[in-house]
Amino acid sequence: MKIAIIGTGSIGKMLGRKWAEAGHEVMFGSREAVRAQAVAAEIAGTMGGGVVEAAAFCEAALLAIPWYAFTDIERAIGEGLDGKIVIDCINPLKSSGSLAIGHKWSAGEEIARTWHRAKVVKAFNHIHVKTFENPVYDGKKATAFYCSNDDDAKTAIVQLAADLGLAPVDAGPIKNARLLEPLGALWMQLAFKLHHNTDLAFLLVDRE
Ligand SMILES: NC(=O)c1ccc[n+]([C@@H]2O[C@H](COP(=O)([O-])OP(=O)(O)OC[C@H]3O[C@@H](n4cnc5c(N)ncnc54)[C@H](OP(=O)(O)O)[C@@H]3O)[C@@H](O)[C@H]2O)c1
Repeated sequence: MKIAIIGTGSIGKMLGRKWAEAGHEVMFGSREAVRAQAVAAEIAGTMGGGVVEAAAFCEAALLAIPWYAFTDIERAIGEGLDGKIVIDCINPLKSSGSLAIGHKWSAGEEIARTWHRAKVVKAFNHIHVKTFENPVYDGKKATAFYCSNDDDAKTAIVQLAADLGLAPVDAGPIKNARLLEPLGALWMQLAFKLHHNTDLAFLLVDRE
C-alpha cells in the first residue's frame, strides 16, 4: 500500500520505518519538505516531501501530528485526502497532559467530520512508540483497538496493524474514539505517573 506519514516526529518515523520494512511504499510528509527528505534518507525504501505531496502520493495517510496542529495541516492538505484512508493516532491533549476534548465528542470524530470524504479510522493512539519495537508481551501481541464508520478503512487497518505485529480489535464506529482517546490518556497516567515505565501495552483477553 502507498502510505503517507504526515509528521516526522517520534511515532511517524517509527511507523514509517516499520511499514517500509513490511513492504509498503512510504512517503514522509513534513511542513518542511527538506525535513521529510532527511528522515527518508535514513530509512531505506522511503521518500520525503511536503504534506501536500505526500497526501497526493498515498492511498492511506497516518496523521502523526499534535492535536493543536490539525487545523493548520487540514488547511494545507485541503481535499487532498478525499477518498483515501486517514489513520488518526492523535491523543488530543492540552499542555497540562489532560484531554482537550472528550465525553461528547472526540478528535477522531472531528477529523472524520472535517474530512468527510476521507475514510477515517482511529488507531494506535493507546500504543506507545516503544511498543512498536517489540509488540509481544508474555508471548501475546499487544492489542490495537481501532474504530471507524468505513469498512475499507477497517479492512486496511487490520492488515496494517498485523504488519506491525499487533493484534487488531474492532472497537466499533468512529464515535468510539470517545472511548479510545481516554484509553490513551489512561496509558499515559499509568506509564508516566503511576508505574514510571513506558514499556507497557494493553492486552484484551478472552476465552478463544
Ligand atoms: N509518541 C508516542 O508514543 C505516541 C503514541 C501514540 C500516539 N501518539 C500521538 O501521535 C501524535 C504525534 O506524536 P509524536 O510523539 O510523534 O510527536 P512529535 O515527536 O512531537 O512529532 C509531531 C510531529 O508533528 C508535526 N507537526 C505538524 N504541525 C506541527 C506543529 N504545529 N507543531 C509541532 N509539530 C507539528 C511535526 O513534523 P514536521 O515538522 O515534519 O511537520 C512533528 O515532528 C500525537 O498526537 C500523539 O498524541 C504518540
